[in-house]
Amino acid sequence: MGMMKKIWTLLIRPNTKIALGLILGAGFLAGIIFFLVFHFTMNATNSMTICVSCHEMEGVYEEYKESKHYSSRTGVRAVCADCHVPNGKTFGDYIDKFMAKLTIGSKDIYHHLIGTYPTRESFDKKRWHMAQNVLAYMRSRDSKECRNCHSMEAMNMEDQDKSAARKHKRVMESADKTCVDCHAGIVHKEPAEPDGKASGTDAGHK
Ligand code: HEC
Ligand code: HEC
Ligand code: HEC
Ligand code: HEC
Repeated sequence: MGMMKKIWTLLIRPNTKIALGLILGAGFLAGIIFFLVFHFTMNATNSMTICVSCHEMEGVYEEYKESKHYSSRTGVRAVCADCHVPNGKTFGDYIDKFMAKLTIGSKDIYHHLIGTYPTRESFDKKRWHMAQNVLAYMRSRDSKECRNCHSMEAMNMEDQDKSAARKHKRVMESADKTCVDCHAGIVHKEPAEPDGKASGTDAGHK
């Protein structure tokens, strides 16, 4: 009974220290819950199933399934988000990931909802522009997502053919080119450049 009474007095006449403690505790708990939900959502929206739910009918997915990044002798798979969404362990990486979800992700959802590409043909028409956007974004990050799996330091250049080894050595020394400058079209076919005016596709897609 004494216990109940104590709790009761605490509730009606809270001791400031305890009240403050409770508020901080609740805040802390809410913070953890918010973080977990946030973190889970950020990771869940990275799954290939989600990307493919919208991108399945396009060439990008079919071509990816033929690539070494989908299936290889050693069984290491890179899913869509490994290349397309900033990944990494530092706080800065986390911010980059969040910003990409906010900007690129909402653009995807927006165009999906308003039905910008009702047919595969209409999507195909824009592929070259999209590819340029993606490549520009990857260049701006110095192909950071590729480097999460491939590091020049870890490459055994003796094992690579001569032209690859020579190029990679040069890149390591001068850093004037980034991976996607030489390795575009590794999982998707490089879309053909439209002849702008004639096809009318050069309408400044951003
Ligand atoms: C709700 C449907 C939807 C989902 C889910 C979705 N996308 Fe998209 N995505 C689209 C549409 C529509 C476009 C065309 C947007 C445009 O015209 O800018 C697009 C464009 C893209 C582009 C080209 C980007 C550009 O800047 O032009 C890439 C890359 C891409 N999506 C990757 C992904 C990845 C990776 C995932 C999963 C993490 C994903 N998408 C999930 C609908 C979706
Ligand atoms: C999730 C890890 C991962 C990511 C991210 C990744 N790769 Fe790879 N990549 C691999 C693995 C594993 C192989 C080897 C497959 C095999 O056994 O042939 C490979 C193979 C390659 C090859 C040789 C085979 C081919 O298809 O030509 C090139 C080139 C390459 N990657 C470039 C890139 C570039 C450029 C990026 C960034 C746009 C990238 N990779 C992102 C894991 C990854
Ligand atoms: C100056 C051009 C150039 C740059 C920049 C470059 N590579 Fe390469 N790379 C090549 C060439 C050429 C080959 C051999 C032909 C091929 O596989 O495309 C090659 C081959 C590869 C292979 C396959 C090696 C093998 O033995 O199977 C991988 C993996 C690869 N590069 C990854 C990368 C990554 C990751 C980066 C960025 C850190 C990068 N390359 C930057 C030119 C380049
Ligand atoms: C190994 C890295 C890698 C993986 C995995 C990957 N992509 Fe890409 N993606 C690229 C690169 C690089 C480009 C830029 C154009 C090019 O080089 O093909 C690109 C371009 C695109 C584009 C723009 C249109 C086009 O044809 O270029 C879309 C849409 C896209 N990817 C969606 C996806 C989806 C969906 C998945 C998963 C099913 C996926 N990508 C998996 C590297 C990757």
